[in-house]
Amino acid sequence: MTPRVGIVLGSGLGAIAEALTDATHTPYAELEGFPRPSVAGHGGTLSQGLLGGLPVAIFQGRKHVYETGDAYGMRVPIRWLKEAGAETLFLTNAAGSLNADVGPGRLMAISDHINFLGVNPLTGPNDDAVGPRFPSLRDAYDPELRAKLHAAATGLDINLAEGVYLATAGPTFETPAEIRAFRTLGADAVGMSTVPEVILARHAGLRVAAVSAITNLAEGMGGEELSHEQTLRNAEVAARDLVRLVLKFAEDY
Ligand code: HPA
Repeated sequence: MTPRVGIVLGSGLGAIAEALTDATHTPYAELEGFPRPSVAGHGGTLSQGLLGGLPVAIFQGRKHVYETGDAYGMRVPIRWLKEAGAETLFLTNAAGSLNADVGPGRLMAISDHINFLGVNPLTGPNDDAVGPRFPSLRDAYDPELRAKLHAAATGLDINLAEGVYLATAGPTFETPAEIRAFRTLGADAVGMSTVPEVILARHAGLRVAAVSAITNLAEGMGGEELSHEQTLRNAEVAARDLVRLVLKFAEDY
């Protein structure tokens, strides 16, 4: 079955894989060049099957910059997806919100990003067979797919926010001063993933859609000091809507 859409699942968002029918599951360990994710809550499984009738490949588990210091970890899976015949990559992540009106449990469609990782997954020799040396990232988050996301959300009565995602390398959460700076720069949400995959996907000519599950107000904005446990707990809440949204997106694709 040729996947039409690849879906990357973020921390605590594994429930989407359970909605697959006719599914096959392959551990990354059996796939040449796939990463070996090391974080609790990240599986490391490629699941293929039908989601709302749409052939998809679900990547459960991703490699982050904080694991190795480089952004190359998802290169093989994203290029595999393109080679397999897919046209779109749908990314999900857990993120902190810089907007007090968009709190834990909410979803945010990503409209653009700011790369504060300090690294880029295309650094090094370019593979011209995959894509150009200097790819444009204008409209990297496909406007048509974003419109479909909003339409799906409206139909499901989900209050889908939209905004700019800023990626930091982590693994520390941000300082309150950094969050104030990032807000000035135009960021609406902050996280430690997604941007490398978006760059790899656009380079390879895949269309991109991305949704953040807001798990917390960014550091300094809320009462509680941030922790990974809090991320996973609140991701579960947001995941309920995210599963519905992704399923509807797949049905209407
Ligand atoms: N910062 C960075 N990454 C995150 C956050 C955050 O506040 N929440 C979930 N992932």
